[in-house]
Amino acid sequence: MNTELIKITDPEAQESKLTRAAHVLRAGGLVAFPTETVYGLGGNATDDSAAKKIYAAKGRPSDNPLIIHIADPADAANYAYVNGTYLALAKAFMPGPLTVVLPKKDCIPASVTGGLDTVAVRCPSHPVARKLIALCGFPIAAPSANRSGKPSPTTASHVHEDMDGRIGLILDGGECEIGLESTIVKIDADGGLTLLRPGAVTYDALCMISDKVRVADAVTRQLAENERPLSPGMKYRHYAPTAPLVLLSGKAERVLAFLQNEQATRRCAILCYTEDAEHLEKTDLFPIGGREDLPTQAKQLFDALRRADHTDAEIIYAPMPPKDGLGLALYNRMIRAAAHTVKEIL
Ligand code: TXA
Ligand code: MG
Repeated sequence: MNTELIKITDPEAQESKLTRAAHVLRAGGLVAFPTETVYGLGGNATDDSAAKKIYAAKGRPSDNPLIIHIADPADAANYAYVNGTYLALAKAFMPGPLTVVLPKKDCIPASVTGGLDTVAVRCPSHPVARKLIALCGFPIAAPSANRSGKPSPTTASHVHEDMDGRIGLILDGGECEIGLESTIVKIDADGGLTLLRPGAVTYDALCMISDKVRVADAVTRQLAENERPLSPGMKYRHYAPTAPLVLLSGKAERVLAFLQNEQATRRCAILCYTEDAEHLEKTDLFPIGGREDLPTQAKQLFDALRRADHTDAEIIYAPMPPKDGLGLALYNRMIRAAAHTVKEIL
């Protein structure tokens, strides 16, 4: 299959390009498209065979359900049973980087939800994504547009790297603004919320909507063999580079001294804070943003992991992120990429 890349800078002025993409989706095909979080690999969410094509193109296990993307938060009621808590979340955070798990209606095929009786719903804020969904007139099922096990794509060239020859069309809307996947929450029977995956809508922000926000175990902790996560995706080792990734925790100057010594003795790739870059050898060094600049770190992380993976390094080091605010989302992605390997530098 030939994979075409189409650049979209202005979705209103370039509507004809999106009309073409909508046509591909209506015919049951797949289209990769930008969102404010990461690129999605889209198919018609009401079409069982399109969902199967998504799993095949990604190489994804079919028990790991897909998120359905809608053009307007109110459209959720067509595909799922919504309640007051959903409406409050929608008012506060949509369109934007929040996905809500709701009881599903019959029009969403079981293949989309991996056989679950719930469906994950998200209304993205990216103008290309919103216009595309509106033109389709049906929700777009879209996981992140990476091959299973790779970091999520934050540029069209990441998508091309993973999906060339596997899908017909990639819409290039430039670099994703946030760079980490959406926050996922489940609404509990008692009106509380369970955070299944942390993202740019933070734990503290969710606490403004509900006074009972729980964090699912799998967000911060490695589950045992026999434990089943609330979100099926959390059991898979995502975002895994080929060389082992080790997170370094400890005082900044000690970590820096450790890295300098490692660079002198072995081939390592390093994700570092901008402040530390001038004290380290430039080979295989990937600055991800200032120490306190979590939004930039979030935006750069997956690209840096991909670049580190393209080196011949035998090991990759990265700093241990904080666990509060946006740090929790970074921590969750990095600790899983590192298969929970943390080295304490004393
Ligand atoms: O930012 C995002 O959410 C991106 C963009 C493209 O929208 N999408 C994305 O999709 O990250 P994906 O498939 O890579 O991750 C979706 C996660 C998976 O971990 C899956 O297990 C979980 O959502 N999920 C989907 N439906 C669920 C459900 N009904 N209950 C619990 N977890 C669900
Ligand atoms: Mg994914």
